[in-house]
Amino acid sequence: MRVMVVDDSKTIVKILCMLLEKRFDMDLEVVKCDSGEVALRKLEDIHVDLVLLDVVMEGIDGFETCRRIKQNPLTKDVTVIFLTSKSEEQDIIKGFEVGGVDYISKPFREAEFVARVKTQLELKKYQNKEIESTQSEVIIKMGEIGESRSEETANHVKRVAKYCYLLAHLYGLDEADCNLLAAASPMHDIGKVSTPDNILKKPGRLTDEERVEMQKHTTVGYELFSNSKGKILRTAAIVAHEHHEKYDGTGYPRGLRGNEIHIFGRIVAVADVFDALGSERVYKKAWELDKILKLLEEEKGKHFDPYLVDIFLENINQFLEIREKFKDI
Ligand SMILES: [Fe+2]
Ligand SMILES: [Fe+2]
Repeated sequence: MRVMVVDDSKTIVKILCMLLEKRFDMDLEVVKCDSGEVALRKLEDIHVDLVLLDVVMEGIDGFETCRRIKQNPLTKDVTVIFLTSKSEEQDIIKGFEVGGVDYISKPFREAEFVARVKTQLELKKYQNKEIESTQSEVIIKMGEIGESRSEETANHVKRVAKYCYLLAHLYGLDEADCNLLAAASPMHDIGKVSTPDNILKKPGRLTDEERVEMQKHTTVGYELFSNSKGKILRTAAIVAHEHHEKYDGTGYPRGLRGNEIHIFGRIVAVADVFDALGSERVYKKAWELDKILKLLEEEKGKHFDPYLVDIFLENINQFLEIREKFKDI
């Protein structure tokens, strides 16, 4: 979790940082600011969970800083605790009025400071978890809607998410990125909500115009989320946009090639095709495993990132375990 310390006294900042680093048993990253203006600017750029805010400062004071934090839709969810030598009753009341959740008077007792900050951090941690799990639930549901438009099974998006996580992990992405991709990948086909039924459900080959219409699901999905504030949704935008790009540049919508395609897009391409081929669709039967593996091998460097195909095939048993565990009933 990230805590921001805003105080124009270097000594206080130092003491607070030391306390935050030594007296808390959670992993805290501390960001220092010496004025309200700097704090407001930084809060727009980085995610912060809690701000320890001094009241009397050069420039805008702590109360005004807090008021602006709470007015800005980008920063309003940050928890603010005032930490100040102004401890008259009306100051404390004002602190709560402008949106602070606690008010610690200086000089403070170390143990009290730690206990109060810890309480707010625990609360925040719990809220963050709630938001994250609601977000990924909504995303999975929306992904299912996208897939159900094309008569896919609900388990398709779940399997693709698991394959993506595993492939990202084997590729060497860090844990946070693996989780991010797994959370966003169910949205790869969300743009299909705008594809007409007669095209989506057509059992035979598509005409050229129909194909163009079908391919729009990539840009529609991208436009839905590209301006989102949330990381997962912005990742969903990338995945929706790039999951039909091909490594050799023959994919759509932009014909990107090689590493121009975001690693998330390259991973979803492998996971999605692997799963789609193994499942029955309106227009085709499920392929046998050896035929699927042969295709992956053949498309190495053409449709797919060759390195991804290599690590996929080397670890095929782990992917098959997922396929078995989440198979369609
Ligand atoms: Fe798609
Ligand atoms: Fe799919």
